[in-house]
This record gives sequence, C-alpha cells and structure tokens, in this order.
Amino acid sequence: MTEWEAVEKRISCRAYAAQPLDEATLQKLRSYVEELRKASGLPFQLFTAPAGEAAVKLSGAMFSGTVSVCAALVGGDDPLSAEKVGYYGQDLVLYATRLGLGTCWVAGTFDRASVAVTIGDGEKLWDVIPIGYAAQKIPAKQKLIRASIRARDRALEAFVESDVPFSSLPEWVQKGVTAIRLGPSAVNQQPVNIVYKNGQVSARLWKKANDLVYNDLGIAKRQFEAGAVACGMNGQWDWGDGGEFHCCV
Ligand SMILES: Cc1cc2nc3c(=O)[nH]c(=O)nc-3n(C[C@H](O)[C@H](O)[C@H](O)COP(=O)(O)O)c2cc1C
Repeated sequence: MTEWEAVEKRISCRAYAAQPLDEATLQKLRSYVEELRKASGLPFQLFTAPAGEAAVKLSGAMFSGTVSVCAALVGGDDPLSAEKVGYYGQDLVLYATRLGLGTCWVAGTFDRASVAVTIGDGEKLWDVIPIGYAAQKIPAKQKLIRASIRARDRALEAFVESDVPFSSLPEWVQKGVTAIRLGPSAVNQQPVNIVYKNGQVSARLWKKANDLVYNDLGIAKRQFEAGAVACGMNGQWDWGDGGEFHCCV
C-alpha cells in the first residue's frame, strides 16, 4: 500500500478483532517506533499485552473489541512538543495503516491508569494509539459514532486562505489540502488552514479550542506532506503556528 492509499484508507478504528498481531508485524512496529523516537527526540512507547488481554483500557462507550498493542505518545507539556507528537504520531498511524492495521488517536476516552507509561519531568501523556486488526464488520454503533462526528466536516475550499481559487492552486497543494481534510483531528474540529500567498505555503490554526489543536497542527502538516509527495513534491515544514513548507527541488 502506498502512503497516499493509506491516507485514503485510514479512519479512526473503534472496533478491533480478537486476532493478535503476528510476531513479524509486531517487530516492524517496534523498529518503527524506535526510528521515530530517534528522529523526534520524543519518548514514544509501545505496549503489548498477552493475547486476549488489553494493552490499554478504552471506553466501552466508544470502542469495541480488545486491542493488544498500544502506542503511548509522551512529550513535553508545551505547544511545540504537542505539535511534534502530532506530526510523528501521524507518521506512525500512516505506517501502521500501510501494514493493514487499524488505529485511532485517543486523547480522552481511555483509562490513563491502565497504561504503565514512563513520564519524565515536564512531560505528559498526550494521547494513546491502539493498534490492531480492524473488526471484519464495523458494528452499527461505531459506524454511527464516526458518521455523526464526520458530519461536521468543513468544505475542502474552507481549508485554504488564498487570493487564488482552489481549482487554480498547484496540484500538489490541492492534494496536500485534500489529505488534511481526510485526516484525523480532535473531535473532528479541523482547526488547521493552509495559507497560499505568492507561491508560499504555510499552515495556520484558525481555531484554538485547547492544547490538542497543536497535536492537530502536527497531524495536518504530516498529512499535507503525504499529499504533496504523492504529486512528486518533497518538502519540509517549519515548526509552529504559521510555519512554512519549503519545497525541496
Ligand atoms: C488529537 C486527537 C485526539 C482524539 N481523541 C479521541 C478520543 O479520545 N476518543 C475517540 O473516540 N476519538 C478520538 N479522536 C479521533 C477523532 O474523533 C477523529 O479523528 C475524527 O472524528 C475524524 O474521524 P476519522 O479519524 O475517522 O476520519 C482523536 C483524534 C485526534 C487527532
């Protein structure tokens, strides 16, 4: 599966199959989390539980099934760390999706005491990401949860601030914005816009409801990158609200 296919396929998985991860897949995840720890400097941690047991206790009101693997996204308690958690966490989500696994960003609806995570001074557990095989058939309840939250989706054009109409933006910018819209955000608030002025792309928070918008900012930047790369445009983001995307040609 290509990364773009993963962008299109990913949804928040709230129904997991009983099937545990096979050892080879688990090993790939472990290695990838190790790479992300090195690249980001963030102390991400991967938890596993014996088959049939839960690696994290998820709220029964939102989730079904038992998930045996969980990533704990730990980082500093400041906006830059929160953004990095978003960026590298979404990198992990796209990787797991490409392995055929279901994932969900979870900041609130889980039992924090159920995760035996190590948290250093000045750090916090921002989110967990349960990782497992999605149930073959999504139960009606989980379908309804997603449909009702996604019903608030903003129009694609609303994600762009520019003098240029959406259809006249470069293809790689259009695809990057499409990826942001397809991506996850806390309570589906979709708080990140792309600003396109004089050929320069930047990312702006148009809404700052709470600290989780900085997770959303990092997620949106990673999603944008996936869209741009699918059109052959590589680049690198500056961190921060208003950070620019620098194309590598
Ligand atoms: C930072 C963050 C925190 C989230 N926390 C939760 C959560 O606590 N519980 C939950 O069920 N979904 C949570 N979500 C998932 C969002 O509700 C979901 O991404 C959004 O509704 C869009 O749906 P989709 O991911 O299926 O496309 C979270 C997403 C993000 C990005």
